[in-house]
Amino acid sequence: MNFAIVGCGFIAKKHANAIRNIEGANLIAVCDRVPELMEPYVDEYGATPYTELEEMLMNHKIEVVCICTPSGTHAAIAELAAQYGKHLIVEKPIAMTLEEADRIISASEDNDIKLAVVHPNRFRPVVLKLNEIMEKKLLGSISHALCLVNWNRGQEYYDQSPWRGTKEHDGGVLMNQAIHNLDLLLSFMGSPTEVFSMEETRFHDIEAEDISTGIIRFESGALATVQASTNVYPKNYEESITIFGEKGTVKIGGPNALYMETLVVEGLDDTETESYINEVKADPLGMPGHEQIIRDMIDAIKEDRQPVVSGKEGKQALELVLAFYESAEKNKPITLCKGDTLHDDNPNNITRTDRKIYI
Ligand SMILES: NC(=O)c1ccc[n+]([C@@H]2O[C@H](COP(=O)([O-])OP(=O)(O)OC[C@H]3O[C@@H](n4cnc5c(N)ncnc54)[C@H](O)[C@@H]3O)[C@@H](O)[C@H]2O)c1
Repeated sequence: MNFAIVGCGFIAKKHANAIRNIEGANLIAVCDRVPELMEPYVDEYGATPYTELEEMLMNHKIEVVCICTPSGTHAAIAELAAQYGKHLIVEKPIAMTLEEADRIISASEDNDIKLAVVHPNRFRPVVLKLNEIMEKKLLGSISHALCLVNWNRGQEYYDQSPWRGTKEHDGGVLMNQAIHNLDLLLSFMGSPTEVFSMEETRFHDIEAEDISTGIIRFESGALATVQASTNVYPKNYEESITIFGEKGTVKIGGPNALYMETLVVEGLDDTETESYINEVKADPLGMPGHEQIIRDMIDAIKEDRQPVVSGKEGKQALELVLAFYESAEKNKPITLCKGDTLHDDNPNNITRTDRKIYI
């Protein structure tokens, strides 16, 4: 299967490496406005460089386009690529506005192509174990959850490119970093109905927020507290999700949420509990998430099914971030639409643990 990458900056390297690792997948074209950035892909992969997107899209051999440009540019690029019949892997966030996200989803439906959004944390070994626990309903009814992202990003991180930290093209810690955790929270907790949040820009010279704290109410009645920041001294301190149920408590955590730090469940004996914890510890990273996303896209095309992280799921995470922003701006709770659960977006009726994971 032939791939192209649009936007040859930081994250493009992960896509290219992942494509290289998959037998039968080839990176045949790259596009960037800055010709020098494409040179490594020409030299190492034999990819053809294009500075004009449409010229690249006319190449009939390309089947999948990975969109790795600044977030505010995803929609226009996705729409054009979809018109040329290319399947789409769009970096997170799917877009910066709901209107843009809808345009991408409509373009994929109208042109009958597959659309995946890059939320690679879905494939982490610890997350797969938590999925298993949630699907077996081992925790019973869920009372609440706690989602923490306390990381460090220096000013130099934001100064790398003019688009970083802007409201139009990047957003702050919620849109850029914690959106992965909000995506996970949605996959564990279901649909949100209400959000109330506060945010500030404390330590960085950027337009968007570097600290955000908020509360979510879910359709089930469960609540979650979310706290995300890039202000933590001197390095990444923690990334965690804790779920509190009537029959158990589970925490996935560590500086990068790779481990099962707490697992106390009524129905699990010591041996079962240790095996959950130790299986994750044996291989906390697993196969790189970008490779999982790309393998999943190849199979979704072959099997004519939705990718694991569909466009609609990407939009739900975006919608939650935007509700946080609106709440902080208006200083009042924001009500979200009911009834659009993640599993409604699963026409193949594949449960999360049934979904194929590549080892
Ligand atoms: N999934 C993840 O974990 C993850 C991690 C980092 C970044 N991202 C996302 O990936 C995207 C890119 O981030 P990055 O850090 O690689 O940015 P970057 O600034 O390093 O790279 C972006 C590249 O896009 C090019 N570009 C901009 N507009 C273009 C256009 N219209 N056509 C062609 N090329 C264009 C730029 O020249 C640049 O080379 C963002 O949406 C970001 O949120 C995702």
